[in-house]
Amino acid sequence: MKRIFSGVKPTGHLTLGNYLGAMRRWAEVDQHRSDALFSVVDLHALTVEHDPARVRRLSRQAATLLLASGLDPDRCTLFVQSHVDEHARLSYLLECTATDGEMRRMIQYKEKSAQARESGQSVRLSLLTYPALMAADILAYRTEEVPVGEDQTQHVELTRDLAVRFNQRYGHTFTVPRVTHPPVAARVMDLQDPASKMGKSNAVGAGIVYLLDDADVVRKKVMRAVTDSGHEVAYDREERPGVTNLLEILAACTGRDPKELAGAYASYGTLKKDVADAVVEVLRPVRERHAELAADPAYLDEVLRKGADRARGMARPTVDAAYRAIGLLPA
Ligand code: TYM
Repeated sequence: MKRIFSGVKPTGHLTLGNYLGAMRRWAEVDQHRSDALFSVVDLHALTVEHDPARVRRLSRQAATLLLASGLDPDRCTLFVQSHVDEHARLSYLLECTATDGEMRRMIQYKEKSAQARESGQSVRLSLLTYPALMAADILAYRTEEVPVGEDQTQHVELTRDLAVRFNQRYGHTFTVPRVTHPPVAARVMDLQDPASKMGKSNAVGAGIVYLLDDADVVRKKVMRAVTDSGHEVAYDREERPGVTNLLEILAACTGRDPKELAGAYASYGTLKKDVADAVVEVLRPVRERHAELAADPAYLDEVLRKGADRARGMARPTVDAAYRAIGLLPA
């Protein structure tokens, strides 16, 4: 069976972008057709200014939401990254494989380091080396496919480059993974600023639908979404980014084609109403299940403990092989 790995970073409350771009497909498709691992990648949350108690809280919440969105611990491996030492062990070897130049070229590093500097914060070294840790997450499991939203493509391409380079220099050790995206909503945009990604770490929440928002809040956010000048409902990312984003969200929620949907609407108002209804319906079962699961923290602990045991067993042989291949004496 195909090996799949993906992860979500507990830096903020999970959003509709995370759900439509990644989590929903993990639950509905990926866990059924593959040997899949999904991780709350908590070490990545330490690359920016953080509050320890908040990271702990968000890590549990993210794991609970992954279960609530349909991940089944009998079908896939769900675990917390820091519970499996192999990620950090392998990350160092990949830092010794990557170059400073290729790390600095990463768009996310450029954007986030600029944001930190603008707000007078220092830039953590781990923000620069983050892609080596992400590559370790993927390569430790000999992953073949990495299902993510569009914003992660560059990181997965770098992972491929590192795998190929390591294999060429030190002998075949890693599987070279490929990235996959959902057919629609691979990049859900902020409802107030359709030029930017709907991101959980964004400071202002008015354009971000969180998975745990009440139905009323979701409706309000969608109804207030920024649309474009003109009245025609057209699918055009360049000229009509606001409306196109709404069409993509509706298409993802209803399983329809966004271009076809565009033809079915005469006004922005009716489109917004249908988007609001569709999002509320898609999120309702997730919120309900989240509430049930949150009432039983011992169950989550057990799932994560078993998941980490299983993940460790899978990663260990590959990471040990990488240590030997690169020239380190076996312990
Ligand atoms: P993160 O936590 O930012 O996002 C988790 C997943 O959600 C997708 N996503 C989106 N998709 C569509 N539209 C959006 N607005 C949107 N926002 C987020 C992301 O593409 C991602 O799939 N570096 C990763 C976490 C990570 C990882 C990994 C992923 C660490 N190691 C190994 C895959 C494999 C991240 O920050 O995702």
